[in-house]
Formats: sequence, C-alpha cells, structure tokens
Amino acid sequence: MTTTTATGQTTGPQDNPLVEGLERLPVHPTALVIFGATGDLARRKLLPALYNLAHEGALPERFGLVGNARSPMTDEEFREMAIESVREFSRRPADEKVLAKLFADVRYVAGSFDDDEVYAGLTTALDELDETAGLALNRCFYLSTAPMFFPVIVDALGRNDLADRADAEVRVIIEKPFGRSLEEARELNERVLSVFDEEQVFRIDHYLGKETVQNVLALRFANNMFEPLWNRNYIDHVQITASEDIGIGSRAGYYDSAGALRDLVQNHMLQLLSLLCMEPPVAFEAQAVRDEKVKVLRAIRAPLPEEIAELAVRGQYAAGTVAGDEVPGYLDEEGVPDDSNTETYAALRLEVHNWRWAGVPMYLRTGKRMARKVTEIAVTLKPVPHVAFQSDMSTGVRPNVLVLTMQPNEGVSLSIGAKIPGSRMAIRTVNMEFLYGTAFLSQSPEAYERLIIDAMRGDATLFTRNDEVEAQWRICDPIVKAWEATPGPLPQYPAGSQGPEEAMGLQVGESPWRMI
Ligand code: BG6
Repeated sequence: MTTTTATGQTTGPQDNPLVEGLERLPVHPTALVIFGATGDLARRKLLPALYNLAHEGALPERFGLVGNARSPMTDEEFREMAIESVREFSRRPADEKVLAKLFADVRYVAGSFDDDEVYAGLTTALDELDETAGLALNRCFYLSTAPMFFPVIVDALGRNDLADRADAEVRVIIEKPFGRSLEEARELNERVLSVFDEEQVFRIDHYLGKETVQNVLALRFANNMFEPLWNRNYIDHVQITASEDIGIGSRAGYYDSAGALRDLVQNHMLQLLSLLCMEPPVAFEAQAVRDEKVKVLRAIRAPLPEEIAELAVRGQYAAGTVAGDEVPGYLDEEGVPDDSNTETYAALRLEVHNWRWAGVPMYLRTGKRMARKVTEIAVTLKPVPHVAFQSDMSTGVRPNVLVLTMQPNEGVSLSIGAKIPGSRMAIRTVNMEFLYGTAFLSQSPEAYERLIIDAMRGDATLFTRNDEVEAQWRICDPIVKAWEATPGPLPQYPAGSQGPEEAMGLQVGESPWRMI
C-alpha cells in the first residue's frame, strides 16, 4: 500500500523488515500555538520536532502553526526564523520542499503574555486557520515560556474564551518545571484546573517521550523472564544515573534558581524510578499507567529533616577538564553569583516502601560537568547463595547487573558469569547486549516529536498527571527546603569527574557507584 502524506510525499512499504511496525497514527486537524516561540526550547526542539513529524507525514493533513513571543516580528520573519531553526537543529537535514510546505502559512502574534490584545490576535489567527481548513481545528496551546508565565497564560486563555470550544478539542501543553516547590505545584495545578479539565492538560516530562525510556516498560511487561525476578527477593539495589558532561551554558538565570534536584531529579529521575518499580498496568493507556506510577511515588516516604544528611548529597562543580578541554567551575560561570549555593550535583538514597520493594536501596544521582553523559538504570541482583567452585576460582563470580541505557548507546545489557576457556573452572563476567540502533536500524525520533503528536491526539499516557507531579514534589520538597536552609560552601567536585567524594557515603553495603 502507498500513502500520500501531509507534505505531499509518497511513502511505500519498507523493504527492511527491521523497520516494520514503525507506524503513524491518525491525528485530527490541529492548530498549534507556541507561546515563547522565539525561545531556546522552541528553536532547538519544538520547531525541529514539527519539521521531522512533517517529514515523516505524521502531522495532520491540515495543520496550522501560530507563534507568540514578546519581540515584534512579522509572519514572514517568524517563518524565516523557524526555517533557520530547523536547518540548524533538526536531526535530519532539512528538505526545502517539506520546509516550505510546513511553514507556508505560519502566523505570528507579538506581545506580552498578560496582554489581552495578544489573545484577540491569536483568536483572529486561529479563526482564519479554521476558515482556510473549512472546519474547526483542534487547538493546542504550548507553554514554552519561563515558568512564571504559566499561570499568567492559563488565566488569559480562560479570560479570553480560548480554553474550550463546542466543536473541537482544546489542549494545553505545559513545560517543566511545574512549580519550584510542593506548594507552588499545588497552586499551579489549582490555577490550571480552574480553567481546563485535567483531560485537556499535558504536563511535559520529555524523558517520557524517549523511546528508550518507554522501553523500560516493554522490557518488563513484554518479556516473561524479568518480572519474576523484579522484586526484593532477587534485586539487591538499583542505581539510576543521569550524568551530563555539559555545564550550564547560557542558562545561569534559570539554573541558579533551580539546581540539580529541581532540574532533573523531581521530574525525569523520579519518572525513571516509577517506570522501573510500578506494577503492571491493566492497559497501556493514560489513567492505568499513571495510576500505577503514582502508587510507586506514594510508597516513597518523604525524608524527615533529620534524615536528609544521611539520604541526600549535593555538590557543585569546580574547574576541571572535560573531554580534554579545560572548563571553569560553576561559580565562575557567567551569570552565577560568587556565593551561589545552588547544587549542580544531587544524589539520593530512596526506598519504595511496598510489598515488592521494601528494603531495596534505590540510588539516584545526577550532575552537570561529570565525566560523561550517561542516562542509565542499573539493576543489581543479589549474589548467588552458594559458590560451588573452588574458592580461588570463585572471585570472578559477581552479581548479575541488568543495565538499561537510555543514552548514549541506547540498549540493554546483562552481565553474566561465564567460564573462562581452559581446564579450570574459572569464572569471568561477560555482557549480553541488545543495542537499539542495531536491532531496529532506524534513528529514534526525538522525545518532543512523540510528545507533540501524542498531545495533539489527546493521549496523555506519556504526560505527568496533577497528582503525580505533586507526589514527585512531596519527595523532593523537604530536601530542597533543607538544602536552602543550610549555608554552603557545597562539596566540590572537579569538572570531568565522577562527582563529589561525599556521595560515596550514601551507599549501604558493598555497592559503589558505577563508573560513568
Ligand atoms: C532538561 C534539563 O530537562 O533535561 C537540562 O533542564 C538537562 O538541564 C536536560 O540538560 C537533559 O535532557 P537530555 O534529553 O539531554 O538527557
């Protein structure tokens, strides 16, 4: 069968059996409004994601784009900016025909987020798009702005009659961070839900859009061999790492008021932990999946103030060398105050207090300017109960470690003990590997591609629900508060290293941090 896509390309059956199953789902004609359309996220991620969706014929046949930001700009200038962004940041080289078609009729409405004139302009632009399409398009409002504007925009959408319509769906996509504390997250939820129904709200956690993060669920629930072991009887401990080699770049303004815990742990890392620990959902659909994730989060007790020193470690990078380049320390980064106590590294030891996981330490760590970019979940099994080989040969017998790597080298690897060839029964650890890229021979779509299309389809499975975001905050809030109340200086770690020495103290038993 051949099909014609929204961009006029003809696609046919794939010859390669390994790309079988890569599919497109129908999407209702939609207009997407991006608030903050000239910002970093829009330029680096959202516009290139739209381009790649168009390239694959995954966008709805009738699709309209409207940008809003404060800088004055004409539709034509916005089109040029969008095209440039795609050329610079798209994962695949830009095809001029696809570009021209995608951005042919873009609109731009300039003005600040609290100005009702802006919303009048948006209404006109959206009505025109409906008229051209000859039907009422669904509307998606993407809040890609600084977080302080989320409530402002939501209120204005409500006030200006843009939050629902009788003959089509209206949805709002909200970027992270969702509040700076539990209290703020609750307030924001209240504000958002006073204008929209929860079914209309799509809170982004871009990690959920990553193929390899979704693969955690595939590995666990599409294979019978792991689930029987997936509990406190067989699993010794879990280490979740999200290390980065980059520093804060030009984001000091945001980062210095956020820190590593808010930036990565409260959202991405707790999502990874929930997916790893959740019970099998009855179906892969929004409510069922999110119900199970929330149960995991609720089973994690928020640390008491007196436990924080024992359960959480923070650090700040000092000058050092990353990939052969000398880089400055955090306090010398442009825009960071000299006396900043913002952590660029955070490590925690958590426990999921339920029947399946009680007693299994869950270690989480993240940091900027560490040795390498690695996102992985390493599940270490308990040692075998008895080593039958002669004692001098048994030193190679190590607990199995199952590593789910999200980036780089996406895949799964299982360490197993194997006999070294020869007349003696000596054991060594070897790895069984599955590499995503090799098995599917296709480039994974960027997380934002999947998430934008899911939001347009109204599928919230890969988005954070209101109670979920609050449950995440409940865990992090006491730590954030304790750290803010404790003066620095913070433990330092050289850029390009494994993180601060102090993080070693979190370990119980003999389970050092994995080398990154
Ligand atoms: C973002 C954080 O949410 O995730 C950034 O704000 C971080 O600080 C980024 O660099 C990491 O995402 P990824 O997809 O590169 O692992």
